[in-house]
Amino acid sequence: MNGKRILLIIGGGIAAFKSCELVRLLRKQGASVRCVVTASGQKFVTPMSLAALSEDKVYTDLFDLKDEAEMGHIQLSRQADLVVVAPATADLMARMAAGIADDLATTLLLATDKPVLCAPAMNVRMWQHPATQRNIATLRGDGITVLEPDEGPMACGEFGPGRLPEPEAIAAAIAVHLSTPTHPLSGKHIIVTAGPTHEPIDPVRVIANRSSGKQGFAIAAALAEAGAKVTLIAGPVSLPTPTGVTRIDVETARQMEAEVTNALPADAAIMVAAVADWRVDEAPAKLKKEAGPPALNWQKNPDILAGLCTAPNRPKLVIGFAAETETAVEHATAKRLRKGCDWIVANDVSIDKMGGEQNRVHLITDAGTESWDRMDKTAIARALAQRIADALA
Ligand code: CTP
Repeated sequence: MNGKRILLIIGGGIAAFKSCELVRLLRKQGASVRCVVTASGQKFVTPMSLAALSEDKVYTDLFDLKDEAEMGHIQLSRQADLVVVAPATADLMARMAAGIADDLATTLLLATDKPVLCAPAMNVRMWQHPATQRNIATLRGDGITVLEPDEGPMACGEFGPGRLPEPEAIAAAIAVHLSTPTHPLSGKHIIVTAGPTHEPIDPVRVIANRSSGKQGFAIAAALAEAGAKVTLIAGPVSLPTPTGVTRIDVETARQMEAEVTNALPADAAIMVAAVADWRVDEAPAKLKKEAGPPALNWQKNPDILAGLCTAPNRPKLVIGFAAETETAVEHATAKRLRKGCDWIVANDVSIDKMGGEQNRVHLITDAGTESWDRMDKTAIARALAQRIADALA
């Protein structure tokens, strides 16, 4: 931990006194620690003790104008290598999950571009409450590390999970976190397809579907954030290109297939595009109404995902997506086997209509089915990027 900078946010709970020992341990291991204490945290531990242990100024107030002049909260949130919240109370994590920024601690947590680790501490019923569990799932989906609390007798007299992990255990988790590369996908090339395909009927009309491309673009962005070289092959969508992503625009399924082949070799491919299964012979001139309903000659489009799965240079990890309106898991499980991909992500578009900001997905692998909580598409993308990093490690 030598030379690492930790911003320690201390929430209000009886376990806050353990933060003093945590500061001491982290400093002993060579890290510098800057403390922020919430208003309720100050009821349990004084800024003066923390200042003495950290040998640094302790921050308590968002509206301390002197500090805003010297060092704004944005800067404070970014000067650390890691932001640690200990104890992370149920209330503080709920506000983090909701994106609330109404005091210095929550403002820093919303403004930071650094990894965040939470060490929760609360009463067992509060820990087990569905609202807390939902918030923790959201935070984890947002890429925040939430440690499991310890189990045992509590200050309130009850027994169960909810105790703040011992300072030694928190310090060990911090050390692991700081030694893990922040770009776990660096050196990996990943292909992502996204959006719909448009199959022309005549020069002015197309066959299309409702895909917005948002989920695929979010996945491309999350993979690039994790250090991957990303080739995003996008059907017609109106979305900006994510930072650090190489984008190739296509219209039809056959163009998409050709670009996927061109982009190989790759370590992984995630086929999020809603590819039109059928195309028609394109009329050379606009079809006129007077000629009556057009007789369209339907042709089957290539299945890009199935083709990639049997390609000689098949990526190590191939992931399909399946938007289903009925029995999503059942259909997607059969689809995974039929197409020969490693994982399939099923989303139930009868709950979340296509084009929205959230999805409820099920990750289907040969180990079984995991149902994730309903979350924002960016949170799903980050969680998936983490899983891909683990699989390619
Ligand atoms: N896919 C593909 N090429 C196609 C059709 C689908 O690569 N011609 C990919 C999609 O990108 C997605 C997965 O296959 O990753 C599942 O797509 P979906 O449309 O659900 O599958 P279909 O085989 O078209 O099945 P359905 O009968 O449900 O439309």
